[in-house]
Amino acid sequence: MVPDRRVTYIILKSREFVNTLVKILTLENQAGRGGLANPGNFGFNKGMTPEQKTQVALFLDLAGDYLRDGYKQFREEYRFSDDAPPPKPQPPQAVRRPEPSGPTDSLEKIADEIRSCAKCALHAARTQTVPGEGVKRPLIFVVGEGPGAEEDASGRPFVGKAGQLLDKMLRAVNLSRDRNCFITNVVKCRPPDNRDPLPEETGPCIEYLNRQLARLKPAAILCAGRIAAQTLLKTTEGIGKFRGIFTEYATFPLMAIYHPSALLRNETLKRPTWEDLKALRTKLMELDERYALEIREGD
Ligand code: URA
Repeated sequence: MVPDRRVTYIILKSREFVNTLVKILTLENQAGRGGLANPGNFGFNKGMTPEQKTQVALFLDLAGDYLRDGYKQFREEYRFSDDAPPPKPQPPQAVRRPEPSGPTDSLEKIADEIRSCAKCALHAARTQTVPGEGVKRPLIFVVGEGPGAEEDASGRPFVGKAGQLLDKMLRAVNLSRDRNCFITNVVKCRPPDNRDPLPEETGPCIEYLNRQLARLKPAAILCAGRIAAQTLLKTTEGIGKFRGIFTEYATFPLMAIYHPSALLRNETLKRPTWEDLKALRTKLMELDERYALEIREGD
């Protein structure tokens, strides 16, 4: 049968494919037979070295790839070893992040200090401080701007309408405060009438956030809104310029998204925020194997 010209073209176009084919056709296996070039060679794998097996496996994959897609697909490396048993599959591990090093204070100690803090004027009008909440080894450290009325009343971050939306957004990418997040704010006391916190309030308060970060060592930081991002990144640029892009704070990868209360006011911000959350998910999949597996299993 004469092969279709287009098939021949696709095959010849790939130098790698042809090189692999040539190597296989000239394979001399250890039993001294002619590899695939010998048509009667059943059981030829018995005498093949791991290297030769790899060649054959690559060839078969390449053939499939070129016939199906017209180009080579990315694959894991083959590993054949006749001597050692194949390694036992291991349960996926979360990427080992360094344990808190040096003398870091416990979250409880930091929260106690916040409760009695009077470093700025915000302490005078607060009902309760809002140190933050979440798990002890979080994948992400979520930072908002400051407690609102519900948070001031309950002592918990992000529990009002914006907080409920934040929880929903996090859930959409397999994140939640009871499984893999810690949520806090750049100021731990409510600014009056929900105004933006002032530099003389964020300045002394950021020390608590830095100590929480040093203790928790998250894989990444997610800033919810302009104020959190501008405060940590020490910038006055608009959030539209850098949302969805990874940068760094204190060696931790940091990404900012629009604040959930901005999404409540402006529906058109939902689509770009979903794109940002997908970028966050991709980054976290790179950073944490267990999270990556969870996402893949959920697909
Ligand atoms: N908005 C914030 O930025 N933080 C909260 O905790 C609640 C609302």
